[in-house]
Amino acid sequence: MATYLMEDGDEGERLRLKTDRAVVERQARWAGIGAGMRVLDVGCGAGVTSAILGDLVSPQGSILGIDASAERIETARRNFQGPGVAFACRDFRQQMEGLGAFDFIWVRFVLEYHRSGAFDIVGRLSDLLRPGGILCLIDLDHNCLNHYGLSARLERNIQGVMDWLRERADFDPFMGRRLYSFLYDLGLEDIEVKMTPHHLIFGELSEVDRYNWWRKLAVAARGSGWSWADYEQGFDGFAAEFMDFFSDPRRFTYTPMIACRGCRR
Ligand SMILES: C[S@@+](CC[C@H](N)C(=O)[O-])C[C@H]1O[C@@H](n2cnc3c(N)ncnc32)[C@H](O)[C@@H]1O
Repeated sequence: MATYLMEDGDEGERLRLKTDRAVVERQARWAGIGAGMRVLDVGCGAGVTSAILGDLVSPQGSILGIDASAERIETARRNFQGPGVAFACRDFRQQMEGLGAFDFIWVRFVLEYHRSGAFDIVGRLSDLLRPGGILCLIDLDHNCLNHYGLSARLERNIQGVMDWLRERADFDPFMGRRLYSFLYDLGLEDIEVKMTPHHLIFGELSEVDRYNWWRKLAVAARGSGWSWADYEQGFDGFAAEFMDFFSDPRRFTYTPMIACRGCRR
């Protein structure tokens, strides 16, 4: 799949490192996951979230994780496939016949990569819900854009590259704020919304945050095609200035995470 913005040989590892089991459990319980449910984990990456959700529905429930990356699905199968936990390599932009019906569909950090097609994707997923089934959508809002302490040059280039990715790579840094309207327009019931901080970074930088943000730069920003004309050394100059800023314990960075859940009639 050529279009996933973060596609890279290390993407499965980035997802593994940044996935916090306690957060996933809390979000899924809030959305209404329960023992015995049949769950679909959409854009499951290397299967870490599927394994966590699988624990929440076991032993009678089951989970199917789907992702378009054959490599990450292979890793997921190797590490997590077992009773009640299965994976399939599927592109959710295509028809999803043959997957069956689900009690709970989970779509976390996925729609932001599909700015123009997001509503249609959610519509097709909602068709896979059993009556009373739950659809849970989670994405970031103002993604990568909230930092205090940036130089004017960094500010200009971060805004520039994010606008560029929005236009050229179909990435939506503002997907979080759109999710509620998707559930509303599809006529789902009992809609609830919750906003929590995803990144809340101040003081010493953790190794996980350093690695995660470095991968964002090294994969999405470097591959974007944005002209780093402000920097004599191009992308490398930008990346060095950003990582200096980001490593300074005085910087302040945050990203709101918006979760929405609704039920099919
Ligand atoms: C940022 S990861 C999210 C992983 C996981 N949902 C989580 O919360 O950690 C996005 C995943 O969506 C997958 N993805 C993106 N577009 C897809 C598509 N059209 N069909 C299936 N998977 C897709 C990517 O391959 C990637 O593994």
